[in-house]
Amino acid sequence: MASPPSPSPVAPPARLVVLVSGSGTNLQALLDAIGDDPAYGAEIVAVGADRDGTGGVERAERAGIPTFVCKVKDHATRGAWDEALAALVAEHRPDLVVSAGFMKIVGPAFLAAFGGRTVNTHPALLPSFPGAHGVRDALAYGVKVTGCTVHFVDDGVDTGPIIAQGVVEVTEEDTPEGEAALHERIKEVERSLLVEAVGRIARDGHRIEGRKVHLGHVGE
Ligand code: GRF
Repeated sequence: MASPPSPSPVAPPARLVVLVSGSGTNLQALLDAIGDDPAYGAEIVAVGADRDGTGGVERAERAGIPTFVCKVKDHATRGAWDEALAALVAEHRPDLVVSAGFMKIVGPAFLAAFGGRTVNTHPALLPSFPGAHGVRDALAYGVKVTGCTVHFVDDGVDTGPIIAQGVVEVTEEDTPEGEAALHERIKEVERSLLVEAVGRIARDGHRIEGRKVHLGHVGE
């Protein structure tokens, strides 16, 4: 008698380490997506920060997720910090690292370990307005649309291959003083974009060819 077909193997969830510097609403969106959907395809195995007292680390602690803090000022050089960060992340054996509002540029040691599998989210439509003040710079320039970009991290400042982008309109009401309000509208789009992009990569894999990111089963 023919034996019944064996069930197709279910891939274990991708292990994510999430890095934060701020309130952690992008981290929370990932936590919620994972909690809400057993088929999301990822789990958060640790959350790291570059400073004390972040809302992001508090959210992780509430969710029972291991955390660590790695501050530049606790290391003799920027390179030593970069090595320490890479080692702390490596302890958790991530498949993917997510920089979710992590306001530091990682260096060569980190990229040697996690280059090509570190995702960042930025609150502007790259390659316009990279850096720490993307929302403010776009407003000051007078753009009519801005938005957010999820991209792989390379050795530049917000220069890596783009995975996904979301658009947010700038209206007459958006004055230069209204940066915070515009940033909040961008973050609403950004959270969904990040959840969608990380889930796709976790479930379906990815391939980077030059500047082009292909999502989906590699080799298909
Ligand atoms: C996001 O807009 C991110 O792109 C920017 O800082 C914000 C972080 O928000 N770099 P949160 O800490 O996830 O709420």
